[in-house]
Amino acid sequence: MIDALLTYLPSDFPWKDRIHYFDTIDSTNTRAKELAAQSAPHGTVLLADRQTGGRGRMGRSFHSPAGKGIYLSVILRPGCHASQLMHLTCAAGTAMCDAVEKAAGLRPGIKWTNDLVVGSRKLGGILTELSLNPDGTVACAVVGIGINCSHAAEDFPEDIRSIATSLHMVSGSEISREQMIAAMLESLEAMSRELLTGKEAIMAQYRTDCVTLGRQISVVTADRVRHGIARDIDQDGGLIVEFPDGHLEAVSSGEVSIRGMYGYI
Ligand code: BTN
Repeated sequence: MIDALLTYLPSDFPWKDRIHYFDTIDSTNTRAKELAAQSAPHGTVLLADRQTGGRGRMGRSFHSPAGKGIYLSVILRPGCHASQLMHLTCAAGTAMCDAVEKAAGLRPGIKWTNDLVVGSRKLGGILTELSLNPDGTVACAVVGIGINCSHAAEDFPEDIRSIATSLHMVSGSEISREQMIAAMLESLEAMSRELLTGKEAIMAQYRTDCVTLGRQISVVTADRVRHGIARDIDQDGGLIVEFPDGHLEAVSSGEVSIRGMYGYI
C-alpha cells in the first residue's frame, strides 16, 4: 500500500517518511494519540485497511470494512494556543473537498461541521481530537478522516444504507484508494501550513462548501431540541442560527440535523 501511495506523491513530499500502514487496527485516531504521546512528529500519518473500532463524533462508530474505505489520521503540531485552532475541523473539511475534487472530479459539500456529503447522503466524516498542555497550548492535534470509497450500496449495513454513499456510487467509476489518499495528504499538508495565517480564506471557502447554510435545521442538545435557520458560520466554525423569535445564536456543539437530509423531514 505505501509503495503504491508513494508513486502518487511528489518525491519531496515532507511527510513521506512518516506514513504508517495497518491491515487492521481498532481506530487510527486512537493509535495516533498513542504515537503522539510517544513524541511522533508533526505530519505522522496512520492509514488502515480496516478499523474494528472506527470512531465518529458524539460517541458514534464509523463503519470501516476492509478494502472499501479510506481510514486516515494525521498528527499535527501547530505550536499554538487551542483558542487559535477552533476552525481546525472546518479547515480539514475544505481540504478534503479539494482532495476529492482533485482525485474524483466532484466536489462534495460539508454538513456542518464535519460530514462530507454528496446530495443528501454521507460520503465521509472528520474527527479532530486535541491534546493540550497545562497552559492551554496544543501538544498535538489528531485529524482523522474516513471516506467511503469503493462501497456498493449493499456493502453498508442496513441501518445506514439509505443515508450513506461512496465515491464509487457517486462517480460510477473505480477510484484508486492510493490516488485518493495521496490527494488527501497533499491537501492536509497544505492546510497545515495555512492553518494559522490563512484563517479568513479557509473560512470563506468553508462557507461556500457548507450545505447547511440557509437550511431549516434542528439543534439537539442533551436537554432539548430547537428549530431554526442556519444563517452563517463564525470565524471559529460556530454555526449562527436564527431562531423563530428572531434572535441569532452561535451553536458550537450538539447535533444539528438538516431538514431533508439523512431522512430528517
Ligand atoms: C464522523 O462521522 O463523525 C467522523 C468519522 C471519522 C472517521 C475517521 S476514520 C479514521 C479516523 N479513525 C477513527 O476512529 N475515526 C476517524
